[in-house]
Amino acid sequence: MTTTLLTGGEVVSATGRGPADVLVDGTRIAAVLAPGSTLLGHDLAGSVDRVIDASGKYVIPGGIDAHTHMQLPFGGTEASDTFETGTIAAAWGGTTSIIDFAVQRTGERVEDGLAAWHEKAAGNCAVDYGFHQIIGGVDDDALKAMERLVEEGITSYKLFMAYPGVFYSDDAQVLRAMQKAADLGLLTMMHAENGPAIDVLAAQLAESGRTDPYFHGVARAWQLEEEATHRAIMLADVTGAPLYVVHVSAKQAVAQIAGARDAGKNVFGETCPQYLYLSLEEQLGASSEQWGAFEGAKWVCSTPLRSRAEGHQESMWRALRTNDLQMVSTDHCPFCMKDQKELGLGDFRKIPNGIGSVEHRMDLMYQGVVTGEITLERWVELTSTTPARMFGLAGRKGVIAPGADADVVVYDPRGRTSIGVGKTHHMNMDHSAWEGFEVDGHVDVVLSRGEVVVADGQFHGRPGHGEYLRRGLTQYLA
Ligand code: URP
Ligand code: ZN
Ligand code: ZN
Ligand code: ZN
Repeated sequence: MTTTLLTGGEVVSATGRGPADVLVDGTRIAAVLAPGSTLLGHDLAGSVDRVIDASGKYVIPGGIDAHTHMQLPFGGTEASDTFETGTIAAAWGGTTSIIDFAVQRTGERVEDGLAAWHEKAAGNCAVDYGFHQIIGGVDDDALKAMERLVEEGITSYKLFMAYPGVFYSDDAQVLRAMQKAADLGLLTMMHAENGPAIDVLAAQLAESGRTDPYFHGVARAWQLEEEATHRAIMLADVTGAPLYVVHVSAKQAVAQIAGARDAGKNVFGETCPQYLYLSLEEQLGASSEQWGAFEGAKWVCSTPLRSRAEGHQESMWRALRTNDLQMVSTDHCPFCMKDQKELGLGDFRKIPNGIGSVEHRMDLMYQGVVTGEITLERWVELTSTTPARMFGLAGRKGVIAPGADADVVVYDPRGRTSIGVGKTHHMNMDHSAWEGFEVDGHVDVVLSRGEVVVADGQFHGRPGHGEYLRRGLTQYLA
């Protein structure tokens, strides 16, 4: 068992900050001590195996990205990060746990989907990983299978009001799944967009020759996100099931969530860095010498990037401050341009949906601290502490406290991070959705359960170090 002392840093939690030394014994945090403390007269720095100097830096709990899709089969291809490459990229960026989505598609058995996901991940992850379960075909078998999820350590599952024929559930299916979830204490995660309506608009656009990636954003109108969010809230309310709305991008959808929360409903919302920084006009509407207007394919994801003129991005930041939204995950779902996004050349409907960001979430969100959008404590809360509580990992993850797993990041506020291919890029993608982003702040050292996985600009971890996280029920409903 290795002992490590992190000295001289400022420990930041969701509720405060202060100078402290952190003692790690094996895989766990043993003590958080006044700076320079001795233990029974012993100089600690002289008694431990390893001292990490965190002077002038923040010491924060490792990030938890509760929304990733490694190796997701989608649109005739598969997300380009494996559990190995994706979790190594996560580690580089200060994320020490991911929660990925095991997939059952219409016509498949939930048990088979889950077993396949364990097979993909086991022995390959560089940081810890848990699963949510996607239920893409709610029927009697699937409802029965939900009963086994809690004992598998899977306490949340995702439904889709979008993607007819692939993952889609109609209102009757949603209602039945939510009734079951209410019984079992499972948290329902909802992809809230009106898929059937979107498909009509998308077909009309494509048939009239409007085939560029930009029209992906036009077809997926904010009204269809607002409407589905409202419907999901009402269906959940009828059943008594708590609801977590994923990848919220429309300010009108935030207003639905805020209204439900004000009315005392157990409704939660997540947004992603892309909805805070990127837009319909600048990214989906982008054009380049290499790709022409197909450049925008790099940012085709659902829900889509929204219009900056309409003010959605500002509204997301505000919602993060006011707790109308509680978390920031990435929805990491990377596809290369070559051979993958390219499938949609000439028809935006065939572009595989997704953006890769698992490596950059902590840096991108720290930028919100630099610009004054959020406080340092809120940064930790949104990226680590709340994900741990929301998804049944509280006590183990998301805090720097005795007994918690020693997932620790030393973050240098005076450092700089240049994001882009050939710079900080470890995700398995041929481009970066964040190319050219220069941010203040730098992930210097990363510990995953007491092991140094990133330090001195080097990756020191290994695939297989990451363990499967059996999760408990959400702590928000205790
Ligand atoms: O575009 C996205 N978000 N791709 C991943 C699948 C999903 O809906 O989360
Ligand atoms: Zn989704
Ligand atoms: Zn997703
Ligand atoms: Zn640095």
